[in-house]
Amino acid sequence: MSSQQDDKKLWDGRFAERTNVLVEAFSESVSFDQRLYAHDILGSMAHAKMLAEVGVITDTDRDNILKGLEQIQLDIERDDLFWSTGLEDVHMNIEARLTERIGEAGKKLHTGRSRNDQIATDMRLYLRDKVDRIVTLLKTVRSRLIDRAETEADTIMPGFTHMQVAQPVTFGHHLMAWQEMFRRDSERMQDCRKRVNVMPLGCAALAGTSYPINRHMTMKLLGFEAVTENSLDAVSDRDFAIEFTSVCALIMTHLSRLSEEIIIWASPQFDFIELPDSFCTGSSIMPQKKNPDVPELIRGRAGRVTGDLVALLTLMKSQPLAYNRDNQSDKEPLFNAADTVEICLLLLADMTPLIKTKADHMRKAALCGFSTATDLTDYLVRKGIPFRDAHKIVGKSVAYGIKNNKDLSEFSLDELQQFSQQITDDVYQILTLEGSVAARNHIGGTAPEQVRAAIRRARAELDS
Ligand code: ARG
Repeated sequence: MSSQQDDKKLWDGRFAERTNVLVEAFSESVSFDQRLYAHDILGSMAHAKMLAEVGVITDTDRDNILKGLEQIQLDIERDDLFWSTGLEDVHMNIEARLTERIGEAGKKLHTGRSRNDQIATDMRLYLRDKVDRIVTLLKTVRSRLIDRAETEADTIMPGFTHMQVAQPVTFGHHLMAWQEMFRRDSERMQDCRKRVNVMPLGCAALAGTSYPINRHMTMKLLGFEAVTENSLDAVSDRDFAIEFTSVCALIMTHLSRLSEEIIIWASPQFDFIELPDSFCTGSSIMPQKKNPDVPELIRGRAGRVTGDLVALLTLMKSQPLAYNRDNQSDKEPLFNAADTVEICLLLLADMTPLIKTKADHMRKAALCGFSTATDLTDYLVRKGIPFRDAHKIVGKSVAYGIKNNKDLSEFSLDELQQFSQQITDDVYQILTLEGSVAARNHIGGTAPEQVRAAIRRARAELDS
């Protein structure tokens, strides 16, 4: 990256003074938008082909432009292109290098377009790839969670509400709950793609162009599904980027929820799981520590992506039509959101199969906290007692259990019958953890049979 004004501006015809050094450093974007180079070149190639097709440039100019752009792409990929902050952004860097290479024809590439429709096009091409990448990663994460759920379909753990033991659930059911979140995220990403994949190219600076352009030709060349309807909107709109970032923020919210659970479960107080050494770090002072850094970092990064979303919403708020330079600052938050989601999904995909389940500890925890109290209530209802009365009877039994330090399943029949004469010795099978989870045997319930059915449906959907 050059430090300053060593390249001539492409727009300096009407300027008498050189740009202030601070202004140049403040306004450049090439340091972060150079990552759009491949999409910028793709868009330029389609534009050049279209210009030749409609007779605005000659076929020879087109061929020179295409060859020059191909070489520039190779230079960039070999890290052999000098990015100059004096040339401001990725667009003007590539255009200037093109003209250096091929001469006059390079100066014709920008005919009938503006950086305003160019950047909007580049960003949509870039995001389209990111959407596809994130959908693929979500698919990997989902299939790993589903595989894991299958092995854990019968593993019993306490289910919580208010972080208090509520009812026993199967660990497979819990893992499938995470999978559901990512299934919806994937749907949201795919839906957002429809609004991303619309082409602004041809809208030029704001009003369109006086050249006889063929927007449908560039649209097809670039694989867009439609062209934007209104030039003023197309060059200024960033709602497609906001929508993408909002889906990223939601993915990160889901990732942070499950990270929080992983962190809690890996603590010695819970001790439900053990994380692989390769995903943890130690303490510089406490030799015994094995810290769950990866889920903690994921949980923390969620804040940054929410920040990215707020940054983009705030950037767009109050902007008059059409393009304003504010929009240049959309890139860092957008790129950060995409990169963060990508790395976090990759980490989760790799970590999921390596987490060790401590089924005996989960089971022991499910036996505490009277997790089968609802089952006893339902048992009494089946014996003809109204639900509210049954609730009270079991509440009293629980109070007795707390006082005598006994779980409901440890009460003798006499002890149970002090609370209701309707209780007979068939009660014990419903007071077991296995009986409790097996009883929740309907679509969406925690019974192992239902978990397996949910796994089959999820797999079928993933494969379709
Ligand atoms: N670097 C600019 C951006 O990202 C490109 C468009 C600049 N347009 C302009 N008229 N200054 O928004």
